Amino acid sequence: MIHIIQRLTRQRVNRLYGPLMLLAVLLTGCGGDKSILNPAGPAARDVAIIWWAMFGFASVVLVALTIIWLYTFKRKEVKRTPAEERRVARRWIIGGGIALPVASITVLLIFGVPTGRQMLTLPLSEPPEVIEVIGHQWWWEVRYPGAEGGEVVTANQLIMPAGEPVDFHVTSADVIHGFWMPRLGGKIDMIPGYVNKIRLEADEPVVFGAQCAEFCGLQHTQMQLYVEAVERDEYEAWLAARQDSELSALAASDQQHEPAREAFMTHCARCHRVAGISTAGIGPDLSDLGSRTSLGAGVMPMQEGAVANWLEHHEQLKPGNKMPSHRDLDASTLASLGAWLETLTP
Ligand code: CUA
Repeated sequence: MIHIIQRLTRQRVNRLYGPLMLLAVLLTGCGGDKSILNPAGPAARDVAIIWWAMFGFASVVLVALTIIWLYTFKRKEVKRTPAEERRVARRWIIGGGIALPVASITVLLIFGVPTGRQMLTLPLSEPPEVIEVIGHQWWWEVRYPGAEGGEVVTANQLIMPAGEPVDFHVTSADVIHGFWMPRLGGKIDMIPGYVNKIRLEADEPVVFGAQCAEFCGLQHTQMQLYVEAVERDEYEAWLAARQDSELSALAASDQQHEPAREAFMTHCARCHRVAGISTAGIGPDLSDLGSRTSLGAGVMPMQEGAVANWLEHHEQLKPGNKMPSHRDLDASTLASLGAWLETLTP
C-alpha cells in the first residue's frame, strides 16, 4: 500500500516538475536590475501596473475561452433555424470582435496616454537636469552639458540625481541604438543625426542596469550601461570631481607612470580622450576610467589588473569591437598602461 502511495506521489511530482521549472524560469523575469516589473521610478511604476492589469485581463480571457472551448465538446447539439444561427453568429462577431476590443483598447488608452505623457519633455517651472547619451558600436558616451564649471563627459556609466525628473537627450554616432532603462520607464531609439528626448525619474538612490534595446550589430548584447541614481549633493560632488581641472591633475600624476603615459600618447591618444592629455573622441573617454564598475560596456568587472587584461585580450573578450589589436605592444607595456589607467580615479 505504502509502495503504491509513494509511486503515485512520485508520478505526480514528476508530472509537475516540468510546469514548475517553467514557472520558475518565467518568474525570474519579475525581478532583477533590468526588469520592468521591478520599477524604481514613477513612469516605470505606471507601466508595471498597466502590464499587470493587461496580464490579469488576458489571463481571464484565456481561462474563459478555454472553458467555452471545453464546453463545446460536452454540450448537446442545439437545433437552430438558419435565422437563429445567423443571429448567434452576429452576436459573437459584434460582442467579441468589436465591443470587447474597443472597450479594452479604450481602457488601455485611458491609463496608457497619461503614463506616456509623463515621459514627454514638456516645459517645467524649474528646468530639469539634462543628460546627453550617445550610442556607439558598442558603448555609451554620456555627457553632462549643465555641469557647473563646464561640460562633463564619461562613458559606460550614467550617474543621475534621484528624486527629481531628468531629461535624457539621446542620439547615435553610427547606427540606430535603443536607450532603455527598464526600471525607470520606456525605451527610446537613438537615431544618428536626430536627438530624441525622454523624461525619467528615480524615486531614490538606486543602482541598476540599462541595455541597448535595438539590434546594432555583433556586440549588441554587450552594450550595457551601469546606472546609479544618487542624492543631489552626491551628484554635484561627482560632477565637480570630473571637471577638466580636477582630471588633468589626475592624469599628470607622478614620474612612475611616465612610460605608460608615453605609450598612451603613441598608441591610444588618437582615439581616446584623457583630460589634460588628449582630446580625441572616437573611443570611450578614459578620464575617470579607474572609477568605473566595469570594462567594455559591461563585459567584465573593474578590478586590479582588469584594464591590462582587457587591453591584451579585448578581441576575445568582445569580438568585433572597434579597438585595434595591441599585438605591437609587449605584455609589460600593456600592464603598465593598464595600471596607469586604473589610477584615473577622481
Ligand atoms: Cu547598440 Cu544594440
